[in-house]
Amino acid sequence: MTRRDWIKKAGKWGLMSLFMYPLYAFIVNVRVRPPEEVRVSTIPKGNEPVIEPQFALFETAKGPIAVSRQCTHLGCTINYKGHEKGFLCPCHQSHFSWDGRYISGPAKKDLPRFAVKRLEGGKGYIVEIPRGLP
Ligand code: FES
Repeated sequence: MTRRDWIKKAGKWGLMSLFMYPLYAFIVNVRVRPPEEVRVSTIPKGNEPVIEPQFALFETAKGPIAVSRQCTHLGCTINYKGHEKGFLCPCHQSHFSWDGRYISGPAKKDLPRFAVKRLEGGKGYIVEIPRGLP
C-alpha cells in the first residue's frame, strides 16, 4: 500500500465516522444506557408534590407520577406554583397544569413524565429519568 492509498482510506474512514457519529451517539445515549434512577424517600402529602431538581413527584389515586421540571420551550427549570396548581416557567412564562399538560406560552408541548416505581413498605419511590433527554 502506497502512502497515497493509505491517505485515501484514512480520509474515507474519517468522513464516514464524521457522519456516523451522531447515529452512534444517539444509540449509546438513548437506547443502550439505562435510565438514571433517582431515589425519593419523601412521600407527597395531599396535593403537594415532592419537588426534586429534575422533576416534581405527585401521588394520585391512580398512582405516583413524576413530571419533568425542564421546560419544553428552551429548557429552563420550571417552578411549581402550589396556589395555582401548576407549573410556571420563569424564562418566558409558559404555563403547565400540575400533571404537565401545556396550557399557554411559547412551549407548545406537554412536560415529559418519568416512570416511577414505588418502593416496598411505603419507603419512597424510584424515578427513572431517560438518558439524553433534551
Ligand atoms: S424556556 Fe420556558 S417558556 Fe421559554
